[in-house]
Amino acid sequence: MCGIIGFCGYLDAKEELIKGLAELEYRGYDSAGIACYTDRGIEVIKSVGKVEGLKNKLPAKLESSCGIGHTRWATHGGVSEVNAHPHRSGNVTLIHNGIIENYHELAKELEGMGKIPVSQTDTEIAAMLLDSLYESNQGNVLETLRGAVERLEGAYAFCIMFADQKDVIYCIRKGSPLVCCSSEEGSIVASDMVALLRYSKEYFVLPEFQVAKVTKNTITVMDLDGTVVSPVMLSVHWDMSAAQKNGFKHYMLKEIHEQPEAIRRTLAPRMKKGNYLLPDFTEDGITDEVFKNTNRVVITACGTAMHAGMAGKILMEKLLRIPVQVEIASEFRYADPILDENTLVILVSQSGETADTLAALRLAREKGAKTLSIVNVKGSSIARESDYVLYTHAGPEIAVASTKAYTAQLTAFYLLAFRFAYVIGKRNEQEISYYMKGLDEVGALMEKVLEQKDKMKELSKRLTPAQDLFFIGRSLDYALACEGSIKLKEITYIHSEAYAAGELKHGTLSLVTGGVPVIALATQSDVFAKMISNVKEVRARGAMVILITKEDNDAVIENTIFDERLMIPAGDDIFAPFTAAIILQLLAYYTSSYRGLDVDQPRNLAKSVTVE
Ligand code: AGP
Ligand code: GLU
Repeated sequence: MCGIIGFCGYLDAKEELIKGLAELEYRGYDSAGIACYTDRGIEVIKSVGKVEGLKNKLPAKLESSCGIGHTRWATHGGVSEVNAHPHRSGNVTLIHNGIIENYHELAKELEGMGKIPVSQTDTEIAAMLLDSLYESNQGNVLETLRGAVERLEGAYAFCIMFADQKDVIYCIRKGSPLVCCSSEEGSIVASDMVALLRYSKEYFVLPEFQVAKVTKNTITVMDLDGTVVSPVMLSVHWDMSAAQKNGFKHYMLKEIHEQPEAIRRTLAPRMKKGNYLLPDFTEDGITDEVFKNTNRVVITACGTAMHAGMAGKILMEKLLRIPVQVEIASEFRYADPILDENTLVILVSQSGETADTLAALRLAREKGAKTLSIVNVKGSSIARESDYVLYTHAGPEIAVASTKAYTAQLTAFYLLAFRFAYVIGKRNEQEISYYMKGLDEVGALMEKVLEQKDKMKELSKRLTPAQDLFFIGRSLDYALACEGSIKLKEITYIHSEAYAAGELKHGTLSLVTGGVPVIALATQSDVFAKMISNVKEVRARGAMVILITKEDNDAVIENTIFDERLMIPAGDDIFAPFTAAIILQLLAYYTSSYRGLDVDQPRNLAKSVTVE
């Protein structure tokens, strides 16, 4: 994980690096550091904690136009100044995103040569290896990098400064992301496009095992033999405001509010209005053949993206009547899955860089399955390596807790399921048209829920002192309960669990005692009566029940079975997850705020998990 940035240009490097690190801080925030070329050599400044702390520590006199910066999410070695990046060994100063898996073996070798690290990190070992290769190759950078690539196992994106090559940064990567752009202000490289937006909307992704030589005026990309290559240029349509808070207290709150728009943007290019509204994937290059030859679907992802997949599975099986399974990517990749050319593997990822999801994709391809990814970040590794991509257009998501990416992923699943069902003859044009109209109206329904945010704010006061909390639901509500639970625990630090409501009595009910909050989702008509029975079961044990139902649910519900009732707007049950998600997100958000926590950057987490 971590955020890395390199700047070489016509502005004050330290200022640019700090600005970039602040934008990348969501990726890792336990410590930070920069290194700059100065007339006195390379100067390194590091600090534990947030980028703001590093900024306050910078010497006023640090004149430089070229440097590198890092905000860390520790994998190897605790959070300390000595473990913070950049790491220096002899001629080499570098920053790293990833994990060097064979660092222990390399450390032993280097120890034999009398080289002893000062930190506990895998990264310092990489710096020592590079320095020793640089020395043995008499300062030949390409030979050095070739040697390093041969020896380093694991994942890495490096920005490297050599003490005797002032104002030049070299970059190379395997697995971890790195994007580059050139502008009038200079040349910039970073882990994520959000840090390049201030300079340019045109950028390229550094291909794996290629070298970027970054100087003031140009970025030269070459392969490890020195052959210069032209990178594929990409562009983003976001502007700077998309990556700023725009008056909201936190990114999370802003992103919750952006959901209706994110869904509309995701729908628009696939919604060709005509007599019938069939999802149209022409611009995505997803042909009907993909669906026709598929007899099984496997969805794999991590965290929230996996929860979107859980909802996708329920919808797809309902409409397609073919088997759909959901697998946690970190399990799937080691499970020797049974896949063939008639299996469609759907990968879901906001960042498009999650290491486990990327590995699952590579495995699926190796086994001959068709791969389709639902990704938010354009040009990311998962998007590039999949056979087909269905982009969500949620815009940059900065808060660690995923909100708008989740509902945009749901949108993508619904579109896929509708087209798929039509192509294989399970639903006709009128039926799909009805669903598409429903999906088109979801944005407006979400706006209605957002208008009631004060209710969620008030209710969150009751959740704030909780130590344990349960989410229960059946069918689509269970998939959403899982998402509600991760959201709550990641930002409020309250222990919570999501349970399929019918499963509660097989063990977990013993934890439901007087006053324990239970958030019960009851939006699905086909299981509504069963759900209410489960609510009564927890109520009978003294639970504090928050019941979420639909407005048009005309069942008589005794008001003695809940403490609070929240309602989502009327509409077809299949769209309930979109509106109910907002309620759960807001409950988590306000509870975290009342607890005085860092909503956007919760402890121990990072936005983009590019390590295993
Ligand atoms: C969500 O709130 C989490 N921060 C996390 O579970 C996230 O969804 C997961 O790490 C997957 O990330 P991705 O979508 O970028 O692949
Ligand atoms: N493995 C390195 C460390 O623990 C880099 C982690 C990161 O990507 O932030 O320092």
